[in-house]
Amino acid sequence: MRRARLAVLAVVAVTWLWAGRAAVAQENAACLGCHEAAGTEVTFPDGSRLGATVHPQRFGASVHAPLPCVTCHAGQTDYPHPPRAARSARAYQVAAQQICATCHAEAAAAYAAGSHGRAVARGATDVPLCTSCHTAHEVVPPATAAFRNNAPELCGNCHADEALMARYGVRVVYQAYTEEFHGVTTRLYRIVTPMSPSPAAVCSDCHTAHRVLPPTDPASTVSPANVLATCRTCHATAGRFFATAWTEHRAPSLRFATLVYLVQVFYWILIPATVAVLVALTALDLWYWVWVRRRRRRA
Ligand code: HEC
Ligand code: HEC
Ligand code: HEC
Ligand code: HEC
Ligand code: HEC
Ligand code: HEC
Ligand code: HEC
Repeated sequence: MRRARLAVLAVVAVTWLWAGRAAVAQENAACLGCHEAAGTEVTFPDGSRLGATVHPQRFGASVHAPLPCVTCHAGQTDYPHPPRAARSARAYQVAAQQICATCHAEAAAAYAAGSHGRAVARGATDVPLCTSCHTAHEVVPPATAAFRNNAPELCGNCHADEALMARYGVRVVYQAYTEEFHGVTTRLYRIVTPMSPSPAAVCSDCHTAHRVLPPTDPASTVSPANVLATCRTCHATAGRFFATAWTEHRAPSLRFATLVYLVQVFYWILIPATVAVLVALTALDLWYWVWVRRRRRRA
């Protein structure tokens, strides 16, 4: 599949060089003449709406910049555009993700086999489409630091939402992730060194990006049989019991992961107590120093 994509890239690149980048830009300018205006919208029969503004600079900076708009929108060459079949914005978006599948068949097949894709096929409206995670016109390479460091927030948009997850009987996991080692490190990278990708595990390192499955599914990368192999992709020397260090996306408490919780409590007390003693010692020392000076002066 990579070969097919590279072939597309090669054809596009050659066309681009031969016909000139300017030709594509000029062709796209005809569409952008109307579509760069803010506030352009499509209204669907059920009343739902979708913004129809495409940002020229951000499209130009995306991985698909060499593509003419009509590669993906073959039906829209003339205006007024032909009538649309979709009754709602969601139905339009679900149909439009087939556009991505034409060139990225591998990602699309993995997605269709995973929980998200299967739920879309059942008609669920709360699950992500290709464009929910990648956008339609501002696609960046997922290997960039910005995309990687932001991946937990991307998944967290839904996996932090109590009401949404309850409807599907899935536990909320985002909050616990932000408090465990990998989450803390990744957040630090996002804030302090946003130009470097976090080495710690983000959601997709353990769950994959597209074929996400419940841990109860034997094919899942985090099923009891597979989880150690998943950890070992980074912790190469991890022993047999390594995965038991995993606290299942749950905050440790007296009842759950008791030892981890007690160590946590120990540090909660130890660190502030150490700081308090140090501050008190410094204060006493300072006070003694002033006291001695005063006595000497008086004497
Ligand atoms: C004269 C202005 C104009 C031009 C030129 C234009 N569009 Fe549009 N387009 C619109 C408007 C307005 C809408 C909102 C819905 C509608 O009126 O059809 C829209 C909607 C769309 C949609 C979403 C709805 C649908 O029918 O799928 C797509 C995709 C689209 N345009 C692509 C393009 C492409 C690609 C080009 C260039 C080849 C282009 N447009 C040229 C004005 C224009
Ligand atoms: C790589 C394929 C691809 C290219 C290239 C592309 N589009 Fe799109 N476009 C899509 C997809 C997929 C959607 C459906 C997006 C969604 O889920 O909302 C879409 C949707 C749209 C819409 C409907 C509103 C929306 O955002 O959903 C408009 C308007 C549009 N495109 C215009 C353009 C214009 C103008 C260009 C060229 C500058 C362009 N597109 C280039 C794939 C593409
Ligand atoms: C006409 C073919 C075509 C279509 C349609 C298309 N892409 Fe691409 N896409 C490419 C090419 C070519 C590249 C650059 C080569 C590569 O990295 O695979 C690319 C790159 C990407 C990348 C970066 C890959 C990487 O490894 O850095 C992502 C992510 C991506 N596309 C997502 C999408 C999404 C989402 C859609 C639908 C909105 C879409 N593509 C539609 C051809 C296409
Ligand atoms: C839930 C969010 C999400 C959805 C939905 C999603 N992706 Fe991705 N995608 C990602 C993440 C995260 C990565 C980075 C994976 C990595 O670095 O291991 C990625 C990577 C990619 C890549 C780069 C190469 C690869 O396969 O790793 C392509 C191409 C791509 N996605 C296309 C698509 C297409 C096409 C769809 C729809 C069928 C889609 N994605 C749906 C999150 C998503
Ligand atoms: C738009 C909301 C949304 C986004 C974004 C999203 N998910 Fe989901 N996810 C869901 C919903 C809803 C389900 C439940 C689907 C079902 O059970 O049919 C789900 C199911 C899952 C499951 C299976 C859980 C189980 O026990 O059934 C995993 C694992 C998962 N998602 C991981 C991820 C990862 C990793 C990301 C980011 C790369 C992500 N999700 C992004 C909404 C989302
Ligand atoms: C993408 C690579 C990656 C994957 C996959 C991964 N980890 Fe990590 N992990 C790291 C990095 C890097 C660190 C050190 C930085 C930090 O503490 O976040 C780390 C730290 C840890 C720590 C803290 C102690 C230490 O060695 O620093 C534990 C425990 C841990 N990981 C357990 C796991 C478990 C269990 C799994 C599998 C369920 C797993 N990891 C999967 C990259 C990964
Ligand atoms: C270090 C590996 C690792 C990382 C990183 C990770 N997970 Fe998990 N995840 C697991 C394992 C192992 C399980 C299965 C055991 C369990 O339930 O905790 C799991 C379970 C889940 C479930 C199933 C919960 C249920 O009720 O069925 C979801 C959903 C999920 N993770 C989403 C995410 C999201 C979203 C992120 C990022 C914010 C993430 N995971 C990051 C390893 C990881």
